Amino acid sequence: MTIVHCGDPKRGAAWAEIFARDLPEVPFRCWPDIGDAQDVRYLIAWTLSEEVISALPNLEVLFSIGAGVDQLDLSILPPHVRVIRMIEPGITTTMAEYVTMAVLALHRDLPALVAGQRAGTFPYMPVKMARERRVGIMGLGELGQAAIRMLAPIGFRLSGWSRSGREIQGVETFAGEEGMDAFLGGLDILVCLLPLTPETCGILCRETFAKMPRGAALINVARGGHLVQEDLLSALDEGAISAAFLDVSTPEPLPETHALRSHPAVFLTPHIAGVTRIDTAVYALIDALKGVMAGQSVAGDIDRSRGY
Ligand code: NAP
Ligand code: GLV
Repeated sequence: MTIVHCGDPKRGAAWAEIFARDLPEVPFRCWPDIGDAQDVRYLIAWTLSEEVISALPNLEVLFSIGAGVDQLDLSILPPHVRVIRMIEPGITTTMAEYVTMAVLALHRDLPALVAGQRAGTFPYMPVKMARERRVGIMGLGELGQAAIRMLAPIGFRLSGWSRSGREIQGVETFAGEEGMDAFLGGLDILVCLLPLTPETCGILCRETFAKMPRGAALINVARGGHLVQEDLLSALDEGAISAAFLDVSTPEPLPETHALRSHPAVFLTPHIAGVTRIDTAVYALIDALKGVMAGQSVAGDIDRSRGY
């Protein structure tokens, strides 16, 4: 019943110690030192390769190191293998902090203020209250809801959009394609926290921007594949979108000459919005593994047919 960690050796070494102490009945090995491959039932990884999958004939469960699973090429994983994503307080808290930071920066017109500082013009911007700013979250799962919990006490007018629709106190919610136009039409700041699936790929595109009020701003903290980057550049240049925070891109990082890298209204960060913490995620992994071994469903179970 071995678990194999495939990834950062520092994290692997730290987690091996904690497993030896807290779950000694499950040997924790670090790829490529997997011991007897026949014994390996569990794998924890950020990405997958044919080499790793073909070396583990008895794999039963793949745990994602991240909250998302699209970075794992699940097409090379046998269909019976269960996939479980990471839900842990390190990712949740850091994501909520990042979204709050970006919303506040856009709310207080930081891009225009920084541009004014660089130009030496120090423009005096009319200042709005948070209650006058409409912030919409696409994706009302673990992270979307965590962002809402951090933003709500500041006073923003919050709305949310998801596939099935969710009721969240104090938040106006919309569901599915039929709810999308009404959701987008009432926003000053749009935050993307969707999983990347065939349905959501390219969702941040010209058509979407056209449904938002002119001059709205964008925060993409989900995946680069959600955004059509050329459409954002055109929307910025046309004034349809006023500014953007992008924590993710295609590729990561963007090439040095890419226009988004030097655009004055764009803040780029290197995929650090929500971070899997070595010191907290290991306990989430152990809890999930205990659930699996007890034959239970666990919070991060992925529906492979749905892609999230
Ligand atoms: P989650 O709990 O699975 O929530 C996903 C939400 O998206 C759900 O509300 C779901 O709707 C909604 N959704 C899925 N497909 C949809 C569709 N076609 N149309 C409308 N809504 C749809 O995921 P999470 O834990 O919040 O994470 C979201 C994503 O954040 C991850 O998949 C990952 O890509 C990204 N992420 C990024 C970073 C970073 O550092 N940048 C860090 C962590 C995660 P239902 O409620 O109806 O199911
Ligand atoms: C990071 O991007 C994650 O999916 O946790």
